[in-house]
Amino acid sequence: MNDITNNGAGFFRSQLGSMSEMEFLRLSYYIKNKYGLNLEGKKQMVESRLYNYVIDRGFSSFSEYLTAALGSEDDFEMANIINRLTTNYTYFLREQEHYDHFMNTFLPQMEKSIKCDELCIWSAGCSFGNEAYTFAACMEDYFEGKNNNWDRRILATDISQNALLTAKRGSYNETIIKALPPEWKEKYFTEQKGIYTVNERLRSQVLFKYHNLMEPIAFKKTFDLIICRNVMIYFDKQTTADLICRFYEATNPGGYLYIGHAESMPEGCPYVREQSAVYRKL
Ligand SMILES: C[S@@+](CC[C@H](N)C(=O)[O-])C[C@H]1O[C@@H](n2cnc3c(N)ncnc32)[C@H](O)[C@@H]1O
Repeated sequence: MNDITNNGAGFFRSQLGSMSEMEFLRLSYYIKNKYGLNLEGKKQMVESRLYNYVIDRGFSSFSEYLTAALGSEDDFEMANIINRLTTNYTYFLREQEHYDHFMNTFLPQMEKSIKCDELCIWSAGCSFGNEAYTFAACMEDYFEGKNNNWDRRILATDISQNALLTAKRGSYNETIIKALPPEWKEKYFTEQKGIYTVNERLRSQVLFKYHNLMEPIAFKKTFDLIICRNVMIYFDKQTTADLICRFYEATNPGGYLYIGHAESMPEGCPYVREQSAVYRKL
């Protein structure tokens, strides 16, 4: 029995009950097909992340809610489900090895080889924006004092509207910003009452957009670097393999793909491994 208390929330908690196996299968099948997220074995997590929301929306069972959400013509409910089922964990300077490669190998190479005045970088599965802003700050540092007018805006995409809102706002508390070098805090953030906001100079270098990685990649440009870290861990093997092929098509010759260090490339991956979690299209 649930921990029933006398307050309203406790009462409703006991009313909602748990999600049936069939309901869970229906939802997880839909989410996997549409968004790639593999929810196998995660019924408890799904229930606990949706429980209070379903109650707040006034539904009296998961069954009633899922019928409404999956049958709805607009994306409102699905966006809310995605906000709750995605794991948006991220932090500034995560996986430092990539920033070292970026500064010491990628940017010098691109500086030499790029013919036009444009560097195309994509942070795919950007979550709260920490990753894209960190790469943008690295670029600002790298090109400082150089006579370089390249268009080097970073495209940063995600399926979580909540994460994108936070990313666009670019405001982080002191704990989140803690790991950054003091000179970056000074240079790239404005502080007010303990909240650090990314300044205009850096913000203008990043363009945040909704994009579902299960859909065809149809941006106007192809990329010199695709950063897709700690996203494919939530996909199964086939979904990952298909996505890697789409990434490959969207990578310029000589361009790179960064994946998370805990992730592995599928068999038959067309990229060449340059070092751990760094792949290149020759
Ligand atoms: C754990 S975060 C990783 C954030 C960042 N890349 C990092 O390494 O710190 C995973 C992100 O991938 C996003 N994501 C999951 N499935 C996606 C999909 N089908 N299309 C786009 N983004 C997706 C999630 O919303 C989440 O924000």
